Amino acid sequence: MTSPDKLQTVVTDSAEEAAAFIRSGGLTAFPTETVYGLGANVFDAGAVAAIFAAKNRPADNPLIVHVARIDQIRELAAEITDAAQRLIEAFFPGPLTVVLRRSARVPDIATARLDSIGIRMPRHPLAHEFLTACDTPVAAPSANISGRPSPTTWQAVLEDLDGRIDCILKGEATEIGLESTVVDCLGDMPILLRQGAISVEELRTVSPMLRMADTASDGAVRSPGLRHRHYSPRASIIIVTDVDGDTREPSTAFIGVSRVDKDRFDAVRICDSVEHYARSVFEFFRECDRRGIQTILCEAVPPSGIGAALMDRLRRAAEK
Ligand code: TXA
Ligand code: MG
Repeated sequence: MTSPDKLQTVVTDSAEEAAAFIRSGGLTAFPTETVYGLGANVFDAGAVAAIFAAKNRPADNPLIVHVARIDQIRELAAEITDAAQRLIEAFFPGPLTVVLRRSARVPDIATARLDSIGIRMPRHPLAHEFLTACDTPVAAPSANISGRPSPTTWQAVLEDLDGRIDCILKGEATEIGLESTVVDCLGDMPILLRQGAISVEELRTVSPMLRMADTASDGAVRSPGLRHRHYSPRASIIIVTDVDGDTREPSTAFIGVSRVDKDRFDAVRICDSVEHYARSVFEFFRECDRRGIQTILCEAVPPSGIGAALMDRLRRAAEK
């Protein structure tokens, strides 16, 4: 793939300045409560193509489209199913993406030629201000080079995309730190495609019929992004349950909630809670890469609430 021309990447804390780039066909990264996204006007096929080029993203991986207002969903979806309606009422704005049949107005490139579209309304105040100023729905994958850990700080966006995008809207480190929950709402029975901060337990309070995608078959087919290698630092990831176990090799790091002996590792992140662990993990992976760490031991957590999403990301990062 040819690399895009070198751009001057503007870093700003003005939502209006950041949105002006979107309105004129450019690319702006912006914070949400999950991770930073890399946005373009979804109705501008050239701008959406530039997202794929900037990230080196495979063309078969569809983008999530972000809205500031509920009524914008009608510009994107051909039909809002009852299942979607219930989830939207319960969880928008928030860290949830619903997949619906797409409207003919959406360019093919944004949805990787699928006849469906992922839609999300972030609850982050700066994201809301930015999306309002864009005055159009904004297609935005996570603002990292494909395959790298998702960015949870504006500095991580700059690390991956400096000179490849027009603008970064600078906010705080993101609150959740893992990407949104993705639910296929095309049929009567919603299907969980990607775990996230809205847990299965919470989804089932609204949609008792919700089932998990069978990752071996329909997960990969319905959500092509899940097929690709993800969230990976250069270091190898090993998931551990017994943190006091064997002796460690040199150049090893640890992240988890147990109070390990810091002297045993070259880099350590002890988190106060599973939420804190989820918020810290991608940035810790990046820090380990900057320091040349070779192996990262990641402590397993109980797979409930955000713990399920965290374990999903750790497993994917550990895949070779
Ligand atoms: O929290 C998030 O979701 C962040 C922020 C920026 O909103 N975005 C994000 O986007 O994580 P991305 O592109 O890194 O991941 C999008 C996921 C992929 O797994 C993709 O396959 C799936 O959503 N997806 C998008 N559109 C879809 C569709 N029409 N059908 C099934 N899966 C879809
Ligand atoms: Mg991503």
